Amino acid sequence: MALMESIKQKARSEKKRILLPEGTEERTVQAVAQIQSEGIADVTLLGKTDEIQAVARKFNVSLDGVTLVDPEKDKDFSDYVATYYEMRKDKGVTSEKAEAMMKDTKFYAAMMILKGRGDGMVAGAISTTGDTLRPGLQIIKMAKGISVVSSCFIMEVPNSNYGDHGMLIFGDCAVNPCPTAEQLAAIAVSSAQTAKSLCGMEPRVAMLSFSTKGSAKHELVDKVVEATRIVHEIAPELNVDGELQADAALVEKVGQLKSPGSPVAGKANVLIFPDLQAGNIGYKLVQRLAGAEAIGPICQGFKYPINDLSRGCSVEDVVSVVAITAVQAQNL
Ligand code: ACO
Repeated sequence: MALMESIKQKARSEKKRILLPEGTEERTVQAVAQIQSEGIADVTLLGKTDEIQAVARKFNVSLDGVTLVDPEKDKDFSDYVATYYEMRKDKGVTSEKAEAMMKDTKFYAAMMILKGRGDGMVAGAISTTGDTLRPGLQIIKMAKGISVVSSCFIMEVPNSNYGDHGMLIFGDCAVNPCPTAEQLAAIAVSSAQTAKSLCGMEPRVAMLSFSTKGSAKHELVDKVVEATRIVHEIAPELNVDGELQADAALVEKVGQLKSPGSPVAGKANVLIFPDLQAGNIGYKLVQRLAGAEAIGPICQGFKYPINDLSRGCSVEDVVSVVAITAVQAQNL
């Protein structure tokens, strides 16, 4: 896993403050020991202090240098309740509801980042993707110029020459169920940025469909064509082509035949799926059938980085996602 090693190395070069709101979760606490000893980030665990300490004792983990925050006992609790109320009162949030929301460590962590007490957050070992991302969507919101938060996976396919020696970016495989053409274009631009900033790739972006360059007519194809047009408009410097079938995107001979002269067809390294069904199924098939390493989902487009763990994650996964989040924070 040369890529993960280089991401960890980069994280160490300028340490960021990463918040872990699932502070009493066992894999998270064990990961903290490794993150600290490898110097990957400065971490804060959120939760009831005595419960966090009990888990640390159980696994013989030192919490030296780790910041512990119990929202309900924190000095800023009432300030954060008031801020959340102001942000959400037009959505029907009462002050009682705001207080209840700030007792949720994920919402509290998002507010800590907004207030400058952290650079990024990682959760999801015991929460769904929706519950992990919602605090970010409501409190942290999107980076300037980004219209939608999305996600991608770094896929490392063994013994393959597709993409960059088997490395490809797949987006969006985890967040937007049914993106519009505008959102699909934003997903493409964000995924290309992630390819560049995390993997050092020179992105060649394929907008995937079941049609290549008009070979089929359908409104689903029209959406991908329109998304491609928008990418050309908003990111004219980006190498992008669409609509392309997966083989036209990846296989040199097929690409040359179906989209001659394209800077992308036959050599794409960033694949943009037309919706979440295709993206989620696509990455899982490549992971299982081709034995690919799937790193992610890596969330992209937030003003400050938030990443979602799988509930089946290992301690090593938590360490890796913290390193990725730290590097995203460096790149802001
Ligand atoms: N980008 C930017 N803003 C968004 C996005 C987005 N992608 N999605 C929702 N929002 C906004 C909403 O407009 C809303 O704004 P507002 O409340 O200020 O008006 C705010 O964020 C919160 O929205 P909610 O309604 O609370 O959230 P929603 O119910 O729309 O859920 C979510 C968003 C959680 C990302 C949803 O789209 C979702 O569940 N996606 C699928 C996740 C999933 O199950 N993935 C598959 C599993 S992951 C895997 O296999 C690796």
